Amino acid sequence: MLNEKLHSYIDDLIGERNPLLMEMEAYAKEHEVPIMELVGIETMLQLLRLHRSGKILEVGTAIGYSALRMAVALPEAKIITIERDEERIQLAKAFIGRSGHERRITLIEGDALEVEKQVSDYAPFDAIFIDAAKGQYQKFFELYSSYLNEDGMIITDNVLFKGLVAESEIESKRTRNLVKKIDGFNRWLMNHHDYDSVILPVGDGVAISKRRGERK
Ligand SMILES: C[S@@+](CC[C@H](N)C(=O)[O-])C[C@H]1O[C@@H](n2cnc3c(N)ncnc32)[C@H](O)[C@@H]1O
Repeated sequence: MLNEKLHSYIDDLIGERNPLLMEMEAYAKEHEVPIMELVGIETMLQLLRLHRSGKILEVGTAIGYSALRMAVALPEAKIITIERDEERIQLAKAFIGRSGHERRITLIEGDALEVEKQVSDYAPFDAIFIDAAKGQYQKFFELYSSYLNEDGMIITDNVLFKGLVAESEIESKRTRNLVKKIDGFNRWLMNHHDYDSVILPVGDGVAISKRRGERK
């Protein structure tokens, strides 16, 4: 979203992560695993710190990078994270196992839309982080927001989808359909009666939704 120069300026100012996290970043780059962008994740971590989130639900673990970043940034927090891809589940388990934070991270294996029962055992959550199949954001939000604390916050990544949500002409039909879904989600979210939301143009676009104290 920011111009390239500013983007790398900010990236350069961000301190190095611990060796395991750096190894995960390198792995993700080499194997094209879509982990959250650096400025996006730093923004999310800062919000979680300010919010003092104690229990966090993550939809979309991939190799466990963001789950581990949350565990490191919030030393008291417990993270429940869902992943359906078998290969990534094994990688996440291995990385988390090496991190020393395994007791605070619970990996739920399966499709997020089918493991509600298991997830509900860990509810309520102070924060929910949605970072899975982009076409299903509204379903994830609707399903899991009922397990959010009164004062909870929902963070959704990739809502600007490389800026494509603002493009009027997109050649690929598949991309066009996906952009339409993300745009639909953004409009639905921004008009949601129970949440105050803002979309930040950082990383790939991060939506922050705060539950309203009083239900309308
Ligand atoms: C963008 S990656 C997650 C990146 C991770 N949050 C990070 O920043 O390190 C999205 C992941 O969500 C998983 N995923 C997509 N749809 C899912 C679903 N319905 N249930 C569970 N996992 C899903 C994909 O397999 C993929 O590994």
